[in-house]
Amino acid sequence: MNNKTRQFFVAALMAASLGTVIAAQAAGAVESLRGRDVETQSREPGKYATEKDGPPIERNYVQQPPLIPHKIDGYSITTNFNKCMDCHSWTRYRETGATKVSLTHFKDRDGKELSNISPRRYFCNQCHVPQTDAKPLVENTFKKAEGLR
Ligand code: HEC
Ligand code: HEC
Repeated sequence: MNNKTRQFFVAALMAASLGTVIAAQAAGAVESLRGRDVETQSREPGKYATEKDGPPIERNYVQQPPLIPHKIDGYSITTNFNKCMDCHSWTRYRETGATKVSLTHFKDRDGKELSNISPRRYFCNQCHVPQTDAKPLVENTFKKAEGLR
């Protein structure tokens, strides 16, 4: 295959897959992997209200990043400032009543212990998420891990 033909094939493939995506969206029906129709929930910000601030939410398995039991609107995380650490750091948690960040959050990816939060744990919302009143998309039979039942 020369370069021109290859380019043509790539373009044709992309057009074909885009076509499928558009067709699926036009049909409006989304099917779960188990073949059930699911009602899609909009991702519009603000459509689903964040749950009220409350006590910590029980964990389902010990390695789980705990869910955030409070609103996080306006809690920004930038290169220079991490609003979460304003309350959750080891120097602030006593006055704020927040859980202090886990000791595991001070380890870099090579397992070296650091004196401040590890870069790989800096963007808290990668792992910790607040809760909304959105209903589950499909039913499921998820149960807590045995050690926490
Ligand atoms: C104004 C202070 C404050 C800020 C800012 C804050 N939190 Fe919290 N957070 C708390 C308090 C207080 C609790 C504990 C609630 C309780 O124990 O009743 C808590 C609880 C949590 C928990 C649950 C801990 C557990 O053991 O279950 C997580 C996870 C959490 N926050 C993550 C975050 C993240 C991520 C951010 C930034 C986006 C953030 N928090 C910003 C005060 C704060
Ligand atoms: C890469 C995923 C990840 C990131 C990023 C992350 N965490 Fe966690 N966090 C976890 C996991 C997993 C646990 C539970 C196991 C553990 O303690 O390591 C946890 C535990 C916690 C706890 C509970 C500690 C306890 O004693 O029970 C708090 C509070 C917390 N994280 C806050 C934060 C804050 C604040 C940030 C951002 C500065 C953050 N985490 C970033 C994964 C993450």
